[in-house]
Amino acid sequence: MSGIKLSNISKSYSGIPAVRSLSLEINEGEFVTLLGPSGCGKTTTLRMIAGLEDADDGEISVGEHVFYSREKGLYVPPEKRKLGFIFQSYALWPHMTVRGNIALGLEEKKIPKKEINDIISRVLTKVQLSGLENRYPSELSGGQQQRVAVARMIAFEPEIFLMDEPLSNLDAMLRIDMRTELKRLHQELSATTVYVTHDQNEALTLSDRIAVMYDGEIRQIGTPKEIYYKPADLFVARFVGSPRINLLKGRIGSEGGKAKFFFKSKGIVLPAHTLFSSASVIAAIRPEDITISSKQVPGSFEGIVFSVLPAGSETIIYIHCCDTTITLKVNGFSSLVEDEKIWIQLPPDKMNFYDPESEQILSNY
Ligand SMILES: Nc1ncnc2c1ncn2[C@@H]1O[C@H](COP(=O)(O)OP(=O)(O)OP(=O)(O)O)[C@@H](O)[C@H]1O
Ligand SMILES: [Mg+2]
Repeated sequence: MSGIKLSNISKSYSGIPAVRSLSLEINEGEFVTLLGPSGCGKTTTLRMIAGLEDADDGEISVGEHVFYSREKGLYVPPEKRKLGFIFQSYALWPHMTVRGNIALGLEEKKIPKKEINDIISRVLTKVQLSGLENRYPSELSGGQQQRVAVARMIAFEPEIFLMDEPLSNLDAMLRIDMRTELKRLHQELSATTVYVTHDQNEALTLSDRIAVMYDGEIRQIGTPKEIYYKPADLFVARFVGSPRINLLKGRIGSEGGKAKFFFKSKGIVLPAHTLFSSASVIAAIRPEDITISSKQVPGSFEGIVFSVLPAGSETIIYIHCCDTTITLKVNGFSSLVEDEKIWIQLPPDKMNFYDPESEQILSNY
């Protein structure tokens, strides 16, 4: 097993950058997800690691081995990189049975037949498909086909797993089941994994660390918790979290010797350790971190319930308050009704502040 190191890798198509001087270190056994909107360069990055796409610049290494280096003029072809790859469309051969699909690559490696049979039954047990070795892909459900693709990857015993949106063809329920299975599998095999998705839930669920990408660059790399609670910039803050984070324009300043966040007419006292200097800011607060009460409490903002959207385990509530709409999330069902007057509190310890110009987090607050 080995880690992966990408140093300043770049790739352009017809002069248009798809990946811009991207650097990323993935530790041995780590599950790292590339998360970002369509077209941000996730697949291109993954294909460069696999060697299916030639980088324009930079260096790619796995463990001690340099696979690509512009400077050293090095390029190792995909088949010599010992990587396992699952594409977005899982590409099983339709005219071959499950057994045939898995055996194909192993036969090319000249592994004896007896051993191939052992490997096939072992990997099919692992993905819970024992007994289906003679079925054709068309005789399997989407989730089962997906598991065959996973089994085929494991059978190769690659040092690295690369997966490009492997669950995107599955319906919502199956996707959640397969997430569980992929997570369990990673626990058992501890293979270094690079996983690509534009689904933030999938990224938060599966990853040791997430690299959030936008326009060919990594905007933030961190644990799911870091990405969720301390988004490095407003793009990450908006992209991760459902429903979307609340962004409130205000000002930080001092009043009575205390740092305060001034939102509309009120000043919210910030934690004592805050280092402040007067500045316009954007405060970000998650919908589940806002608290409400039916009576006015000191420091609260009056609002009117605009819309209540129950979804079983949680309810999303939109509130008109201070010339803006604030999103709130509460557990279970809510007794609030449309047009009801309520008071909102913004807990200062749950807020992050951003520079409105650079959109970067202000670390002093
Ligand atoms: N073979 C190609 N020729 C020209 N442009 C390409 C090629 N492959 C990718 N691109 C462009 O490079 C950019 C990055 O593409 P990439 O496939 O890496 O995005 P992605 O993040 O995987 O998106 P998605 O979530 O839609 O799969 C896009 O603007 C895309 O149009
Ligand atoms: Mg892609």
